[in-house]
Amino acid sequence: MEKLRINNISVSYGSIRALSDVSMSVAEGDIVALIGANGAGKSTLLNAIVGLVPLQNGEIDFEGEKICLPKHHQKLSTDLIVRKGIALVPEGRHVFADMTVEENLDMGAFMIRDQSVIEKRKEEMYDFFPILGARKKQKTRSLSGGEQQMMAIARALMSNPKLLLLDEPGLGLAPLIVQDIFNKIKIINEENKVTVFLVEQNARLALRTSDYGYVLENGRIVLEDKGENLLNNEKVQKAYLGA
Ligand SMILES: Nc1ncnc2c1ncn2[C@@H]1O[C@H](COP(=O)(O)OP(=O)(O)O)[C@@H](O)[C@H]1O
Ligand SMILES: [Mg+2]
Repeated sequence: MEKLRINNISVSYGSIRALSDVSMSVAEGDIVALIGANGAGKSTLLNAIVGLVPLQNGEIDFEGEKICLPKHHQKLSTDLIVRKGIALVPEGRHVFADMTVEENLDMGAFMIRDQSVIEKRKEEMYDFFPILGARKKQKTRSLSGGEQQMMAIARALMSNPKLLLLDEPGLGLAPLIVQDIFNKIKIINEENKVTVFLVEQNARLALRTSDYGYVLENGRIVLEDKGENLLNNEKVQKAYLGA
């Protein structure tokens, strides 16, 4: 079944066109990767899915329901999109550095009214990321970059999303830490049945982890295929895998 469907969307910032006629889909249960150079429009695409940047054209469907339409049409607010079951871990993590780990996780649960559900969910996060449990009363700024990224993922999971969007989870982190984070993403996908759409600079790792991949160049999708086929694609190897 199709979880997310993007139909011919275009996005501009003033006179700069960031996305042109982008169409793609994410199947339920899959991990789908989006790869592309700096400035290709990857973050714009993820931000558009949660309604943070307006569409000029096109539409986005989640579970068969239209969630984003061009700005002159009615569309859902980001808040409502999150309530529908989509959570974004933004590029650069955007953690609240002066808050504790626990307070950051509370922020991710803004739509849950029942405090006992929030407490239970936090305990699940501390089980899954033991380092966060050990540091729950510490200010986030005292955490390492990798720990902050884990926390940003845990915060997104607090809303119990059906679709998790990850914008460069490995950015600025050492290769072993990035591998750790991708192992966690794989478990979230396989055991918690969360569909994942991720953007990653490390194209090799992203495609190895993914069922399906898209290549974005200058705001356009230029290639799509199964992850393993893209890894073996000569153009992808030359442009993104340093082969
Ligand atoms: N807030 C903004 N205002 C103006 N231009 C922007 C803004 N955000 C991104 N852009 C431009 O849009 C293009 C795509 O950016 P982005 O989506 O951040 O790419 P990526 O995530 O692939 O690096 C780039 O040319 C970038 O400079
Ligand atoms: Mg980006």
